[in-house]
Amino acid sequence: MAEGDPRVDSSNAVWDSGVVESNESVDIAYAGDALSSRTRYSWSVRVTDESGTDSDWAEPACFETALYDASDWQGAEWIVAPNEPGTEGEHNLDWVGGRHVERIWLPAGDFLEAVDSTVEQVFFRGHVKVEQQPTRARLLADADAELRAFVNGTELPADGTADDRVTAALTEGDNVVSFAVTPGDTPAALAASLDITLADGTKAGLVTDGTWLASSADSDNEADWKLAESFGHHGTAPHGRSPLTYRPSPYLRREFALDAGVRSARLYVTALGVYEARVNGHRVGDDHLTPSWTDYASRLPYQTYDVTDLLHEGGNVVGAVLADGWYAGNVCWFGTFQYGDKRALLARLEIEDEDGGRTVVNSDGSWHVGEGATRYADLQNGEVVDARAEPLGWDEPGFDAGAWAQARVDTPSHGPLEAQKAPPIRVEHELPAEAMHVREDGRILVDFGQNLVGWVKLDLRGEAGHRVMLRHAEALDHNGELYIEALRGARATDEYVLRGEAGGETFEPRFTVHGFRFCEIVNHPGELRLQDITARVAHAAMEPIGEHSNSHEHLTKLQQNIVWGQRGNFLAVPTDCPQRDERLGWTGDAQVFASTAAFNYDVRGFLGKWMYDLRDSQYEDGSVPHVAPDVLTRDGRANEAGAAGWADAIAIVPLELYRAYGDRRVVEESLDAVDKWLGFLVENSEGFIRPDAGFADWLAFTQTPKNLVATAFSAFAARCAAELAREIGRTEDAQRFETQYANVRAAFRARFVRGGGKVVSGTQTAYVLALHFDLLDEHEQPRAVQALVDNIAARNWHLSTGFLGTPYLLQVLTRFGREDIAYRLLLQDTMPSWLYPVVHGEATTMWERWDSWSDSHGFQDPGMTSFNHYAYGAVGEWIYRELGGLAPGSPGYRHVVIRPRLTASISWSKTSLETPYGPVSVNWSTAGGEFALQVSLPANTTGEVWLPGQEPVRIGSGEYTFG
Ligand code: BGC
Repeated sequence: MAEGDPRVDSSNAVWDSGVVESNESVDIAYAGDALSSRTRYSWSVRVTDESGTDSDWAEPACFETALYDASDWQGAEWIVAPNEPGTEGEHNLDWVGGRHVERIWLPAGDFLEAVDSTVEQVFFRGHVKVEQQPTRARLLADADAELRAFVNGTELPADGTADDRVTAALTEGDNVVSFAVTPGDTPAALAASLDITLADGTKAGLVTDGTWLASSADSDNEADWKLAESFGHHGTAPHGRSPLTYRPSPYLRREFALDAGVRSARLYVTALGVYEARVNGHRVGDDHLTPSWTDYASRLPYQTYDVTDLLHEGGNVVGAVLADGWYAGNVCWFGTFQYGDKRALLARLEIEDEDGGRTVVNSDGSWHVGEGATRYADLQNGEVVDARAEPLGWDEPGFDAGAWAQARVDTPSHGPLEAQKAPPIRVEHELPAEAMHVREDGRILVDFGQNLVGWVKLDLRGEAGHRVMLRHAEALDHNGELYIEALRGARATDEYVLRGEAGGETFEPRFTVHGFRFCEIVNHPGELRLQDITARVAHAAMEPIGEHSNSHEHLTKLQQNIVWGQRGNFLAVPTDCPQRDERLGWTGDAQVFASTAAFNYDVRGFLGKWMYDLRDSQYEDGSVPHVAPDVLTRDGRANEAGAAGWADAIAIVPLELYRAYGDRRVVEESLDAVDKWLGFLVENSEGFIRPDAGFADWLAFTQTPKNLVATAFSAFAARCAAELAREIGRTEDAQRFETQYANVRAAFRARFVRGGGKVVSGTQTAYVLALHFDLLDEHEQPRAVQALVDNIAARNWHLSTGFLGTPYLLQVLTRFGREDIAYRLLLQDTMPSWLYPVVHGEATTMWERWDSWSDSHGFQDPGMTSFNHYAYGAVGEWIYRELGGLAPGSPGYRHVVIRPRLTASISWSKTSLETPYGPVSVNWSTAGGEFALQVSLPANTTGEVWLPGQEPVRIGSGEYTFG
């Protein structure tokens, strides 16, 4: 856009900045004419240095604008399959009323051996009490065997086809549901659900589980029956999913002709659900699980793809496959349909041909809808693909779609459409299998050697109709079996039915994600070779910008584990964990990890987008929910908001982003929301003391009073707000927030600080928060630091902090001159410590708890034992800043502080970071007893180098060696 650059056509320039006298060199905001929708712009820049010398013009860069207005989509309509949601979608053999459907059989039996057993028939009984007459009920059952079902003695179909009769058979009060199962030649086990809706709209229901009765003889006397044995959730091996529960993916296609070759073409596309777009037999783009996750009622992202090369003169096809995703699939433990039940597509293909003609293909009622191989796909449960059902060539011209239905136009409600803000989810790494083990019964256990998030791609060959199952888990139990208990409701199982291609075929799911290190293959049709199986690692396509390694093998591994934790949990939103039936944007976890995350990857786009999710979820009264997008409080579920250290993410994350990248925009966008949050804090405190509630120092080994933690964070939030306001020149607001900080601080001191800097409860976290948030007066600090050190010493140099205390623990020790103790904690490898999982637990990611697994107790509570929770990885910030010695001295690293902290246990360290100004590196070594430091700073930055025992030295950009 700049005048004078011969390589940029400036005849229709929209902006010429002219010569600007400034030393600002990054994040210069566009200040030209308003840009137009769907337009490509190029631009270039040159600089004049202090001696007046002009640089060359930079290689022109370009960007393209999105569709600005709703009217740009004119003619594009939402389309769905005519039978959507489809009766099959209502079949629920996974959950009813928040309880799992389980596969059950005779007690102490083994359904794997049911074939050999002499039992001819097995009878089952369950009870359900209802307070009112049901208005609707659906009975479903599957036993992989012949089965008869009865409600209060009346025999009824159990396949969802007789809702009215099932409803009529139920009565107010106690009801008995019973089954008679006749096993055939293959293993049998019963999974059944009764989903009941009562007159007042409330739900009741019954699921098979270990409370059912089972017997090999029918008898009216329940005393003759025994408790059934549960073999796991519906869908676990060897039965897999019942075909009753399939919800096939809609395949949508539209054929059209072009009279000339294509000069340029763009596909603008989104879905309610997730989609994979296709053009002329090709997948469009490399993105997965588009359009990803937002609060769809607040905003719905769409994607833009350059499809010029995929189109041609003559017949063409544009199409898409849809699946449930976050919109209609299982989210957390709340089951399906959190946002809606109809998977829908919105697409607009704009083509400019070589003759200057323009063709637009919109999604509308002229599209056709069919089905294909994808029979079921759920983010948590996995995917079922029957390759025999794939209509080959469906996405190419000439396919006979005569049997396909006409798409139905729908008008679903959703928030405004907007161009996607976050980086897309892509396959960013591939890992080969490290080892495999074939069990006696033929199951194959594959170990990828790394806990990862993604899915498995499998090459195989076999007969048409052969069914293979792939199960996933992060760990093995003490019998060497997949440890699936910790996955809770997530079935994490893919199934593939072979097409029977003579030359072999490849299975790769496309609408599910698993968190796993191990994959078990059940019923593989031949001999698996290691090279036939690959793990595809998917995460948000963020730029890796930071690297750190050092001479300490375990610490370097810890750093890698932190990075893997980030990869696994930065998919659509920053999640607590990627494997079990949770996977939510927990605000506390994201807040504590944000600064570390900002070192490893450029998370400006990823967390910047999540800040929209968070602000979208803020309540009118200013409170902020525990998770964003907020699914905890939907559908009348209790209002979950305002927890200390969690809700404060609304102030902390923007500040961390600003410090790391220096971009004021996130601050400007956030400040009003932060202000509202501060208002809520005052309203909901008594004399500035926060209530004794919230998660407080979650998962700490010693609990700190909740009101102490909450009040400390209330002060901190006000302080973050003041800093944010100051940075963007809102001075009066800054003063107001400073006053709030001072008020909360005074209240905190009066309530929780005793003479001589003693902090109530005396826990490590109490001291850490009081010191880190400057809640103690200067003269009190030394005694508080000593009390903290004494506490650590009394625990034989162990920490006892949880989610909120841990991130600041080493920072506080370092700030107050006790980096020796900080290192002692960091290098500790008995429990609880950062290195315990590395040294004793073969960890390849960060664990949820200090003792997710331990030598002495094995696995922690299976209800909450994740091996991929990044919160304790927040120590990564300290590793970069203090061990590595690379810290921002001003927002965005315009000024860099280089101050490595040395310890005898580490002889060298290498740290590098791609800052907005360019690459910074800090390498140090103490080899041979000599300290040597190499620093490299990019143009237009300054540094401040602290050598051990000396005054800091100021440097400008360039390469330096200190010794
Ligand atoms: C999540 C945490 C989260 C917590 C809130 C858990 O279920 O996994 O990481 O922050 O709930 O207490």
